[in-house]
Amino acid sequence: MKESELAVQTVARFAAENHDGFLEELKDLIRIPSISSSTEHKGDVERCAQFTKKIMLEIGLEKAEIWETDGHPIVYGEWLGVSGKPTVLIYGHYDVQPVDPLDLWETPPFEPSVRNGKMYGRGSVDDKGQVHVHLKAVESWLKEAGALPVNLKFLIEGEEEVGSKNLNTFLKDNRQMLAADVVLISDTSMIKKGVPSICCGLRGLAYFQIDLRGSGQDLHSGSFGGAVKNPIHALTEIINQLKDEKGRITIPGFYDDVVELAPDEEEALAKLPFDQEDFRKEIGAAKLYGEEGFSVLENLWARPALDVCGIWGGFTGEGSKTVIPAEAHAKVSMRLVSNQDPETVATMFEDYIRKITPPEVELSVQRMHGGLPFLADTSHPAFEASVRALKRGFDSDAVFIREGGSIPFVQTLNEVLNVPIVMVGFGLPDENAHAPNEWFDMENYEKGILSSIYLYDELSRI
Ligand code: BES
Ligand code: MN
Ligand code: MN
Repeated sequence: MKESELAVQTVARFAAENHDGFLEELKDLIRIPSISSSTEHKGDVERCAQFTKKIMLEIGLEKAEIWETDGHPIVYGEWLGVSGKPTVLIYGHYDVQPVDPLDLWETPPFEPSVRNGKMYGRGSVDDKGQVHVHLKAVESWLKEAGALPVNLKFLIEGEEEVGSKNLNTFLKDNRQMLAADVVLISDTSMIKKGVPSICCGLRGLAYFQIDLRGSGQDLHSGSFGGAVKNPIHALTEIINQLKDEKGRITIPGFYDDVVELAPDEEEALAKLPFDQEDFRKEIGAAKLYGEEGFSVLENLWARPALDVCGIWGGFTGEGSKTVIPAEAHAKVSMRLVSNQDPETVATMFEDYIRKITPPEVELSVQRMHGGLPFLADTSHPAFEASVRALKRGFDSDAVFIREGGSIPFVQTLNEVLNVPIVMVGFGLPDENAHAPNEWFDMENYEKGILSSIYLYDELSRI
């Protein structure tokens, strides 16, 4: 047996033998409520950055530091001990989404517990657990073999869930510090349990709040009803004009930059192990919906989407109150695909909303966060290396997928570093990310560590 193969095997054994200790540390990481969107949790986010840095030092990296930003800190670590070998940049995030509605959690979100092979807790899969997979794979190499087969940089941020604004600026100003030959990210899902998946595409995001005002104050619906425009009605009229009966978004110019799937890409999607009927049952919908002429996966991954995420205004309390509300509001999100640009889309959206707003109400549109879509060029040998590592770790052939979600920093990385970006996700589609009872499959955690151990070795030869 070759010496390098022997090393890989002893490193894998180290991970297996230390599994219980790894899990305890992951629980400690989940215990820190690092909710990036909440000012109340600013201290916890900071504490989580410090804890991540501490782990980086303990696993044997040469350097680990906190980089302050105008928002939450970035945690950076590196081990550059094998000159002449490729450098891998691992990106992930330690911040998490809010936890409400709290009463729907079976166990509290920041008190991690393992039940039926699932680790429950906010951030367990998105993304603390998946970042921890890499930290522990690296530890196994450094503690068992005394070295990694590649040079490695960790970039773990605290603002992914709020749009990565500060990291985007940081990268543009400091591209040399983050230079690498390949980027590796574990913040996506496998198409189903047992099928390792390499994600080659992410959707972008454009998010807005619409506020309408109809009158200076709420009005008695008897004294005024019939003579004033109700802003809630105006809002529904606007919302109704955002999509047509074929499920197409009606904003003029909206589809201009959408890259259509090539026939071979369509075929590849159709061959994936995905069952539309299982999907329907899983989400508990009476019937599936989507832009006419496209399959579910096409609509999720390769077509843009527009959704009202929330709507409020007027009286919703007990009983009845005869009132015409002064205001109405909605939050609207659009998932974009390559090559749509969130800024261009935002301008189109605002122009269109302005045009269709009834003249009796006053409109204000706020831009919330946005993010660019991403499409990987999979021709680089790093992808084949990942297929081999995943095959070994999961004992099953990997498939190429996309995701409907967004990781706003990925396209910035792509533009600035211009190196292959390999997204190897260890999540599952039903792990309740962002929802109550988020969990991480412990078998995927284990196999994720194993695959990553193999992957670093495979990447040393690209
Ligand atoms: N890890 C997710 C991205 C993701 C979503 C991967 C769905 C696979 C499936 C990431 O943390 C995320 O939630 N992104 C946000 C971005 C937003 C808050 C700027 C998203 O997609 O909503
Ligand atoms: Mn994530
Ligand atoms: Mn997320």
